[in-house]
Amino acid sequence: MGPDTLIAALERRAELLDSLDDTDCVRLLHGIVEGWPGVAVDRYGPVLLVQTWREPLAPGMLEALAAVVPFDLVPVWNHRAGGGSPGPVPDEAVGTEHGVRFDVRPRHRGSDPLLFLDFRVARRWIRGAAGGRSVLNLFAYTCGMGVAAAVGGATRVLNVDFAASSLDVGRANAALNGVEMGFVHDDVHPVVRQLAGLPVGGRRGRQPRYTRVSAELFDIVVLDPPRWARSAWGAVDVVRDYPSLFKPALLATAPGGCVLATNHVPTVPLDAWLAILERTAAKAGRPLAGIDVLEPDADFPSFDGQPPLKIAVCRV
Ligand SMILES: C[S@@+](CC[C@H](N)C(=O)[O-])C[C@H]1O[C@@H](n2cnc3c(N)ncnc32)[C@H](O)[C@@H]1O
Repeated sequence: MGPDTLIAALERRAELLDSLDDTDCVRLLHGIVEGWPGVAVDRYGPVLLVQTWREPLAPGMLEALAAVVPFDLVPVWNHRAGGGSPGPVPDEAVGTEHGVRFDVRPRHRGSDPLLFLDFRVARRWIRGAAGGRSVLNLFAYTCGMGVAAAVGGATRVLNVDFAASSLDVGRANAALNGVEMGFVHDDVHPVVRQLAGLPVGGRRGRQPRYTRVSAELFDIVVLDPPRWARSAWGAVDVVRDYPSLFKPALLATAPGGCVLATNHVPTVPLDAWLAILERTAAKAGRPLAGIDVLEPDADFPSFDGQPPLKIAVCRV
C-alpha cells in the first residue's frame, strides 16, 4: 500500500482518462476496492486530494503519491477523522467535468468534497436529457446536477436543500458556467409535497415553519438523498422508508417525465430497491413505464460489479 498501489490504479484508468473529454476531476485510486482500504486519491482540477478514513498518512507519503501522478498538482491530504496536510492548502480551486466548471476547493466547512465524483455518470446523463425540459433537484448539495442540467439547456432548474452553505456553492457553480437556476433553502419534505399538490403534513400541532411554493410539475426530478438524516419534518431513511421520499418526487413529475433516484447504501441490493420503486409507483397510481440503471464510471470499480451507488432513471 503506497505509490505502487497508485501506479497500478493509474494504469487501470489509462483508457478512462483518455476518454473523458475536457475533464480534470477523476478518482485516481478507489482504495477500498483497489488494495488500499481507507484511502482515496482524487484529482480535483489543480489539486491532488488524498483522503484517509482509518490510519493517517505516513510522513512523506503525500509527496511520494504526488510524485507518481503524471500531472503537476498541489497535493492536499484530508484525514476524515480530523486534520490532514499541515502546510498551506489552496483556498480556491476550479475543476472541469466534460467542460462544466465546479468549485472544488479541498477545504471548506464540510468534510465531503464539494463535488461527488461517482455521480459524474448522472451529471452526464442529465446534461444530455435536460434540453428544453424543467428540472427539480432535491437534496441538491452544491447543485452539480442542477448546473449540468442548466448547461444542457434546461428551461428551468430548481434546487432544494436545507444547507445554506451548500446552496451558496451551487450559486457560485452557476456563475462559473454563466447559467441561471432557482434555489429553495428548506427541508425537502414540505417543498416537494407542495410542488406535488399534497398536504404538507408535519407532526400534529407542531408544524415547523416552511417556505411556501406553488404546485408545479417538473419533467425531470432528481432524488439523491443521504442514507440517513433527521430534521424537524422527520427522518430521511433510505433503507427503511424509501417510499416516503419517492412517492412525492414521483407526484411532482410531469406525465412523460422521469425521476432519477439514487440509493447509496451498499447493503441494499439493486433488485430489491428497484422492486420498491416499482411497487411505490404502482400504489401511487403512477406505474413506471420503465427503469434504466446508470453505473458509475470506471474510476469507481466495485466488488462483483455491485456498485454501492445505485442510480435508477424511472420513466413515468
Ligand atoms: C448526498 S448529498 C446530495 C448530493 C447531491 N445530490 C449532488 O449531486 O452532489 C445530501 C444532501 O442532502 C441534504 N439534506 C439532507 N436532509 C435534507 C432534508 N431533509 N431537506 C433538505 N436537504 C437535506 C444535505 O444538506 C446534503 O446537501
